[in-house]
Amino acid sequence: MNKHLGLFITLEGIEGAGKSTHADYIRRLLANDDTDVVLTREPGGTELGERIRDILLIHQELHIEPEAELLLMFTARWQHLKQVIIPGLASGKIVLCDRFTDSSYAYQGGGRGVSRDMIDKLVNIVHPDVKPDLTILLDLSAETGLARARQSGVVDRFESETLKFFESARQTFLDIARAEPDRVFVINAEQDICNIQQEIKQVLEGKGLC
Ligand code: TYD
Repeated sequence: MNKHLGLFITLEGIEGAGKSTHADYIRRLLANDDTDVVLTREPGGTELGERIRDILLIHQELHIEPEAELLLMFTARWQHLKQVIIPGLASGKIVLCDRFTDSSYAYQGGGRGVSRDMIDKLVNIVHPDVKPDLTILLDLSAETGLARARQSGVVDRFESETLKFFESARQTFLDIARAEPDRVFVINAEQDICNIQQEIKQVLEGKGLC
């Protein structure tokens, strides 16, 4: 149960779902004279988090053990929670985060095979009391997602993973959505952008947010 004053919204999905574009759209929908929206991302959102992001994404030649990768995600997350997410929520803001812990279950759990138990334990240590109030899952096939991500030029450590990796990550996201239908709203990200934005707006309207 979240005790914070603000609202914690996360955006999830595999590569190529167009999260950044939609995050900006959601920020514009939600921001008004009374409500500040903090748009942030994971891994990242703090100076330390952005440096960890560079290690995780840029260094393709660097071998990182799956559990070490998970711990780096949660190191960045700890800093992000303390410096950005918790203060934002405590002061009544909307914190809109491009990826959060569902991505750890999908990528490190589903994709890399790290045990669910290890991820659950880290959640209990790092953010036992913080859970997104609302998550929008932009869902698309692994084939389409990877093709879109690879079209955009430089391929990062994750984008160079196999189709099977992204199929597992996608399935894990969908499993989470099935298990938590009140929190996670699935939107088909293969539709054209206007339809996607219309559906996002409907979800936010349904929650009385715009
Ligand atoms: P992403 O948010 O997709 O940024 P961009 O659109 O600029 O590529 O990149 C972040 C990558 O980090 C993405 O491949 C998913 C991965 N990731 C994890 O593996 N686990 C996590 O817990 C998080 C937050 C991200």
